[in-house]
Amino acid sequence: MIKLKSQKQIEKMREAGKLLASCHQALRNLVKPGITTLELDQFVESFLLERGAKPAQKGYMGYPFATCASVNHEVCHGLPNKNVLKNGDIITIDFVVNLNGWLADSAWSYGVGTISQESQRLMDATKKAMYKGIEQAQVGNRLGDIGYAIQSYAEKKGYSIVKEFIGHGIGRNIHEDPQVHHVGERNTGTTLKEGMVITIEPIFNKGMPYITMKSDGWTSVTFDRSLSAQYEHTIAITKEGPIILTEQF
Ligand code: MF3
Ligand code: CO
Repeated sequence: MIKLKSQKQIEKMREAGKLLASCHQALRNLVKPGITTLELDQFVESFLLERGAKPAQKGYMGYPFATCASVNHEVCHGLPNKNVLKNGDIITIDFVVNLNGWLADSAWSYGVGTISQESQRLMDATKKAMYKGIEQAQVGNRLGDIGYAIQSYAEKKGYSIVKEFIGHGIGRNIHEDPQVHHVGERNTGTTLKEGMVITIEPIFNKGMPYITMKSDGWTSVTFDRSLSAQYEHTIAITKEGPIILTEQF
């Protein structure tokens, strides 16, 4: 069941989203060779707690950290650890903010120091695909239009899309209906209505789309060890068009 949100509720989610976005902006300057993903995780957790918010991923389905931190061939749900980031790495940091009971979710890929052109291209294409999906998040469009926009962009750029992880409705809970696939056909699937709030969060791999799980039981990695990037925003669907609740300024 899709829980539609009122304007007031969307406003609350936007407050959570703004806080999340400002935390990502702070992270942008912290992601440097020498720092660990555990230090970044602790930064995020304190940042949120100091501002009266909570890291909603911590404790969710037993997940032990505020953030997911996925480096290079790690696809998503990477566990923060004491490994030091190196020049040329790429890292995706994903977290969910709970502010006054309303949630927002956003993941962003960052380059560490100076990164290769191939890494930059993968990141740029993944980000652009997310925005192409967001463009389709219009009242009267259908979920397949979002998937189609993302899939056709990936194909054009020669990247593969991880199918196992999808976007989702969000509100008082991290994962609500509907499921938002990043592949699809135009004019298929659920019709988008005013008041739906969803995430769009494509993951692109440089190589094959297949993934496997690390022995920690959380971290997904690419099967062929190729690089992976992800961008995610939380989007409200309104008569005036999509509003990106987690937009960074
Ligand atoms: N932020 C993730 C998403 O985009 C949710 C991660 S769930 C966790 O759906 F348990 F791994 F934290
Ligand atoms: Co997320």
